[in-house]
Amino acid sequence: MSKESDTGLVPSATVAETLAVMGDVLVPNIAKGVIIRRPKVVGMAEKLGLDKRAIERLQKLNEKYGAGPLMLNTPDSRPMALILDPEHANRVLNETPEPFATAEWAKRKALEHFEPEMALVSHGPERAERRRFNEEVLQSECPVHGLGARFAQVVEQEANELLALVEEHDGKLDWEMFETTWNRVVRRVVLGDAARDDQALTEMLETLRSAGNWAFFHPGHDRVQDDFHERLCTYLELGEEGSLAAEIARVATTDTTQPEHQVPQYLFAFDPAGMATFRALALLAAHPDHAERAQVEIAENLQQPAPTLDYLRACLLESLRLWPTTPMVLRQTTEETEWENGTMPAETSVLLLAPYFHRDDRVLDNANLFDPDLWLQPGEAGNWPMMPFSGGPGICPGRRVVLTVTSHMLARLLQGRECELNPPDRLLSSKLMPPLLNNYDLAFKIRAY
Ligand code: HEM
Repeated sequence: MSKESDTGLVPSATVAETLAVMGDVLVPNIAKGVIIRRPKVVGMAEKLGLDKRAIERLQKLNEKYGAGPLMLNTPDSRPMALILDPEHANRVLNETPEPFATAEWAKRKALEHFEPEMALVSHGPERAERRRFNEEVLQSECPVHGLGARFAQVVEQEANELLALVEEHDGKLDWEMFETTWNRVVRRVVLGDAARDDQALTEMLETLRSAGNWAFFHPGHDRVQDDFHERLCTYLELGEEGSLAAEIARVATTDTTQPEHQVPQYLFAFDPAGMATFRALALLAAHPDHAERAQVEIAENLQQPAPTLDYLRACLLESLRLWPTTPMVLRQTTEETEWENGTMPAETSVLLLAPYFHRDDRVLDNANLFDPDLWLQPGEAGNWPMMPFSGGPGICPGRRVVLTVTSHMLARLLQGRECELNPPDRLLSSKLMPPLLNNYDLAFKIRAY
């Protein structure tokens, strides 16, 4: 247990330690792009092993300061604390949104470029209403959404088109080809078939997300924001059957709900789901024993309209554990909070660095291995915080829709086919999984059996 400081406040890191956290944790994650990834920086971060440095930095602080939490030596107006202990991580996630609000100030500044009234950056009754709406639309407690069979059908159609293209390219599949297909799937699932080819909508959102990467340093694109919302609203008014837009039209709203500020999150958050799918494909290509288990599941289940595909879901969760697409989960304290080592001031930004918990090789035997069974055997990781979708009352309400769409995409790409990494030794070079896997330069050779 860590000691209380003389002031009764949670201890603070030194200036040098704070600068080291900035250099090893905050700057690389911000540079990679918090709201939309910058592919070149992701490639550089992979080569330089920056994600490992971030984990090691927090491990060092944990060894020196114990369980923490640890305040960074930042200006008083912007206090920030690191969570270093699994119990504390569970506490922060479970005690959301009071006293640990999801509406943390840096997150607010980033999301205000395209969804200022989103649940995640709202608080109090407004957050409660918007969270209720998202949970209902996304049917967050159902393993498979009521529209799951339709989503599976959309994935099948688009995957077939992609596989025809792959055949024309001598079996080669790269990120660019996959991304085009993925964006079509996302627009059809969220807005309906009418939006299938509306790449312009995706591009407008990308422009706004790029501004979001710069948070308060970017003046914003008011024109693009208006055009994007106008276009989005035409699809929401249409409420096409078989898409989430139909659910949005069906679920009750009040003046507070602001569906058009919730839906950009649905569209943009499917982006990391595509990254996780491509990485999961790489994991399976590099682990033939696991690929075989996946093939058994596909053969036994894919004839049903909307099977859960538990094994493939576990592979996706492993992809997200090894390379979390939301590495920094942030909360902001709404009041003073008490810890074993002292008091933390109100309005403190609290950082949970997902890779620090997901890949803590001091505690988890298989921290750096691909181990889907971690997700298949309940209790395998005990109370250890695994937070690819965050956790507690702020958990991602879209996680099950995501797992349906991504597992079906994997199933359709693999059904009756063999998938090899190109070059084949990209992940096999060591049995330990790399700290980061750049999805943008992954390529595969796909062949029918
Ligand atoms: C791999 C894909 C995804 C991952 C890893 C992911 C992860 C997360 C995480 C970590 C949060 C919490 C963020 C925070 O506390 O700051 C979150 C929130 C949220 N996600 Fe996802 N998400 C994904 C995809 C989606 C999709 C596709 C949808 C909708 C269709 C969605 C809907 C939401 C919503 C509405 C929230 C806000 C929840 C709240 O206000 O409490 N997510 N997601």
